[in-house]
Amino acid sequence: MLEKLVLTGAMGRLGSYLREPLSKLCKELVSTDILDAPDALYDGERYVQADLADFDAVNDFVKGADMVVHFGAIGDEAPFEVILGPNIIGAYNIWEAAYRNGVRRVVYASSIHAVGMHSKTDCIGVDVAHRPDTFYGLAKCFTEDLARLYWDKRQLEAVCLRILSCAQVTSTRALGSYLSYDDLIQLVTRSIDTPVTEFTVAYGVSDNDRATVDNSAVSFLGYRPKDNAEQYADAMFDEAPPVDLNDPGERFQGGPFAKIELGASGHAIMNIIDDRLTSTENKL
Ligand SMILES: NC(=O)c1ccc[n+]([C@@H]2O[C@H](COP(=O)([O-])OP(=O)(O)OC[C@H]3O[C@@H](n4cnc5c(N)ncnc54)[C@H](O)[C@@H]3O)[C@@H](O)[C@H]2O)c1
Repeated sequence: MLEKLVLTGAMGRLGSYLREPLSKLCKELVSTDILDAPDALYDGERYVQADLADFDAVNDFVKGADMVVHFGAIGDEAPFEVILGPNIIGAYNIWEAAYRNGVRRVVYASSIHAVGMHSKTDCIGVDVAHRPDTFYGLAKCFTEDLARLYWDKRQLEAVCLRILSCAQVTSTRALGSYLSYDDLIQLVTRSIDTPVTEFTVAYGVSDNDRATVDNSAVSFLGYRPKDNAEQYADAMFDEAPPVDLNDPGERFQGGPFAKIELGASGHAIMNIIDDRLTSTENKL
């Protein structure tokens, strides 16, 4: 069992599903976010409220950690100046603090939007060139490169998880991009318990019939997704508007992010259901 794990973005939607399983993998889970503390904590969990852009605060909560699971970020497209602090400087702070404190590995919530301008018909592998669709995706590219740099020069391991759509299925695009919460938990767990990862990139996607990405090069992670969005296909096609072949949102991996203006919210044109776990639902 690990001594200490750190989870950033712990008060976010994905963080809310990761806190409990991660708390079981270590003696101490430090959950951190810029938001106020949750109503209740899991056994072995401690909460630290901190801004990722504040190096001293990051350095403090990283001390003594075996690994960091870095999910904290602005999770949507926004003006570059808004992305810069949390997503770019925040990422640098995590890797630099991890290096200074002898952390072994960072597991990072990257995104399909790092490669969002590739065509959906290309079935891209994990070694495809960066092709961001937004400033948000550009920050994910920066952080993947930062992770590779710290592996190449400083032997700090990293697993960058290019998550597609970890949310309820509400569109035909999600039939290919869906990642269930159970599969997310399995993917993060494998990213932690695989003995050696060096620098690894993997896609965060369930076992969808219509998946548009290829994880075969990272089978050593032992990630074997159990869920498949195909069960929602009939319902999604019944509701779907006619397809416009010239719509970048249909053609490219990034979906709606591929068609919005730089700096404009992608979430504003997506129907993302906020089903984050609350303390009460999770019967703490
Ligand atoms: N949900 C998805 O489908 C998806 C897809 C691809 C990548 N991701 C990535 O996964 C991670 C989690 O996504 P989510 O859907 O839970 O998003 P979310 O917005 O619900 O959670 C992100 C959390 O980061 C925190 N945060 C933002 N700025 C911060 C700062 N300056 N300091 C400290 N904390 C800060 C927020 O308060 C929030 O609780 C993000 O990095 C996101 O980019 C998510």
